[in-house]
Amino acid sequence: MLVNLCVLTLACLFAWLYLRWTKVRSYWSDRDVPHLPPHPVWGSLTFLQQINVGLWFKNIYSKFQSPYFGIWLFWRPALVVNCPEIGKRILVKDADNFRDRFLSSGKNDPIGALNIFTVNEPLWSSIRRRLTSVFTSSKLKSMHGLFQQKSVELVQRIQTDLKAGKKFDTRSLYTDYTTDIIGIAAFGVDSNATITGESHMRTVTKDFMEYSFWRGMAWTSIFFFPSLVDIFGFTMFPKKTTDYFRKVYHSIAKQRSAEGSGKKDLVDALLKIKQDSLNTNEGISDDALIAQAAVFLQGGFDTSGSALTFITYELAYNQEVQEKLYNEIAELKQRIGDKPLQTDDLTNLTYLNCVINEAIRKYPPMGFLDRIAAKDYKIDDNLTIPAGTPVYVNAIGMHYDPKYFPDPEQFNPDRFLPENEKNIPANVFMPFGDGPRNCIGMRFAKLNLCAALAHVFLHYRVRPLAGFLKPNDLEIEKNAIFLMPGAINPVEFVPRSDEFK
Ligand code: HEM
Repeated sequence: MLVNLCVLTLACLFAWLYLRWTKVRSYWSDRDVPHLPPHPVWGSLTFLQQINVGLWFKNIYSKFQSPYFGIWLFWRPALVVNCPEIGKRILVKDADNFRDRFLSSGKNDPIGALNIFTVNEPLWSSIRRRLTSVFTSSKLKSMHGLFQQKSVELVQRIQTDLKAGKKFDTRSLYTDYTTDIIGIAAFGVDSNATITGESHMRTVTKDFMEYSFWRGMAWTSIFFFPSLVDIFGFTMFPKKTTDYFRKVYHSIAKQRSAEGSGKKDLVDALLKIKQDSLNTNEGISDDALIAQAAVFLQGGFDTSGSALTFITYELAYNQEVQEKLYNEIAELKQRIGDKPLQTDDLTNLTYLNCVINEAIRKYPPMGFLDRIAAKDYKIDDNLTIPAGTPVYVNAIGMHYDPKYFPDPEQFNPDRFLPENEKNIPANVFMPFGDGPRNCIGMRFAKLNLCAALAHVFLHYRVRPLAGFLKPNDLEIEKNAIFLMPGAINPVEFVPRSDEFK
């Protein structure tokens, strides 16, 4: 009797699963939306941990000639948008219906869940409004000295490493530099990693860079299956990291309330938010503030570090581009004479900006922009997606579409020169996303990149080393969600003449 009951229950379960699966499987064909057949368990996510997520979006773009196509996140249907006009509507024009991201960190992970990148409405608007004041022109201007000082240290570090005969792991070198910059700006901790390659904050960012299978699973769940996050106890940041963030935050808060800082940096801006919230009884928790500093560090150090790494590698293999960049920086240096390179002047260098744009076109750290529909939404006359559908605007796919960027695998900064840039259609170049939920650190990142590149390439020429892969064959981190180098990519640094020392 009991056996029969078990058999019957199992039969019912399988029948239910089968019926459910047939419904899931036909979801996009019922709506006439192009798609590739889903896997019965993973849906379209069979590539996870095999290929970098950004690369997957890039590769799949060219399989469809349609403005959008359907995928499944396990059994959940989601839409990928390949078309700039629909992308613009989702990210900008109809952004009110797409305020939230689909990704989310668990309830038991306040630092992961309360930060501006993961948090949803209504909290997101309130945090974003306050944090916008953290990145105003005047706040960024007050940090110019920091960019300059750390860029000079970067040049010194290369010199020291050259003398010691070290091989350059550029990604480590540049993430030492970006850790210092963001560590100081967001946490007030001067970690000195640019000079020494080590510091407590650097240990934290090294932990972030560890793309083990388990961390890969955590990130995958946060992005594509948030319901699993709490079940498996995944967190956005490793536990020891969040403990360290709390300790640093409390100590800096105490120090600055006793002494004041006059620094007007991101830390001061965060502490002011806390103070204002106490005055208005809004009750912003310490964890909510630490979460923002943590996500600046997370969002800022590796994106910028990777961009610098890719640029340096490409310039080693594209000597004419490197010479053009050098000439532009050297010309500025000649004009200003003994004065140090000023961050303000650097951001106005046309070719330097072209080099940065081309690097983040070819290697956008986050090339798929995720949102979730709050209400049913009409994509076009054929398709209306129901509320709750995740949508990905395929920015990296557009960045590699030869219609918009001819010969897209070629590193060609000239395409961003003012006379050529006008040929790039609107809304196909989105390295920092678009709309109200775009990258809040965009201007900070550009200053950071300009300062480092100008100082390094004024003093050094880089050349490829024998036995290493060409840029287009570079290994990309397969366990990562963001587009990051997957292997050490050394290049040779050769000091230029003493003219500018
Ligand atoms: C080369 C450097 C960087 C690139 C290419 C980049 C790119 C991006 C992209 C594509 C997004 C998603 C935008 C969207 O969904 O529309 C984003 C979001 C974000 N980025 Fe960046 N980023 C960079 C550097 C930084 C830096 C330096 C910081 C902080 C100091 C930062 C902080 C953030 C934050 C907080 C968000 C979430 C914004 C929100 O959801 O409201 N990023 N970034």
